[in-house]
Amino acid sequence: MSKILPLTLNNVFYRVGEDRLIQDVSLRFEAGPITLVIGPNGAGKSLLLRLCHGLIAPESGSIAWGGSDAVQAAKHQALVFQKPILLRRSVYANIAYPLQIGGVLRDTEIVDRVQEALKLAGLEHIADRPAKVLSGGEQQKLALARARAQRPEVLFLDEPTANLDPRSLKDVEALIRALHKAGTKIIMTSHDMAQVKRLADEIVFIYDGRIVEAGPAEKVLRSRHIKY
Ligand SMILES: Nc1ncnc2c1ncn2[C@@H]1O[C@H](COP(=O)(O)OP(=O)(O)O)[C@@H](O)[C@H]1O
Ligand SMILES: [Mg+2]
Repeated sequence: MSKILPLTLNNVFYRVGEDRLIQDVSLRFEAGPITLVIGPNGAGKSLLLRLCHGLIAPESGSIAWGGSDAVQAAKHQALVFQKPILLRRSVYANIAYPLQIGGVLRDTEIVDRVQEALKLAGLEHIADRPAKVLSGGEQQKLALARARAQRPEVLFLDEPTANLDPRSLKDVEALIRALHKAGTKIIMTSHDMAQVKRLADEIVFIYDGRIVEAGPAEKVLRSRHIKY
């Protein structure tokens, strides 16, 4: 059951000074498919994700979550950055702490959720390690596990595998698939076409702040517009 989807953008513009960075974007994100936002560096992928997640506000146009107001919608979505922001605490505490300060869950539920997230991400054996000493791949898995523990309906991922070695890349992609299988809507950016082909059910191709193509992956991948 969708709590906050679909997400609908209508004629969204975003500008910094004279720079028109996002122009006339209209999109609809439904529950279900893994959606990849693709395009070359500087195309506006990260800005689009930040707009969707409410970290920045559009200059004009609307961004609406089906039925829910912004406050309600914010509770059911999470964003993981390319370089995760972790607490100077253990792996375990990084997942548990946000649940504790949320103040809604009982202690036993928190323990259950942390254990499940650790297991899903394959981090059980390093649960007591300080998060700061983890490798890049482990840190990204921790960021995803922490997001998972919040049970978001929608998870935004901004180039979650950039700078990872091939082994970690494979692990993180497997984790993303597992989160999707567990019912989370994935909206992620990538400029790696091999990855896009592996993961995408649906593709939004952005170039120079404008949407060039959007639709089912196989259709968009055949388009003559997406050569870069
Ligand atoms: N705060 C900002 N001020 C000015 N320009 C920005 C700002 N944020 C992003 N940009 C510019 O907007 C464009 C799109 O950025 P971004 O969304 O980060 O691209 P992508 O994630 O596709 O690589 C880039 O040209 C970038 O330099
Ligand atoms: Mg980016």
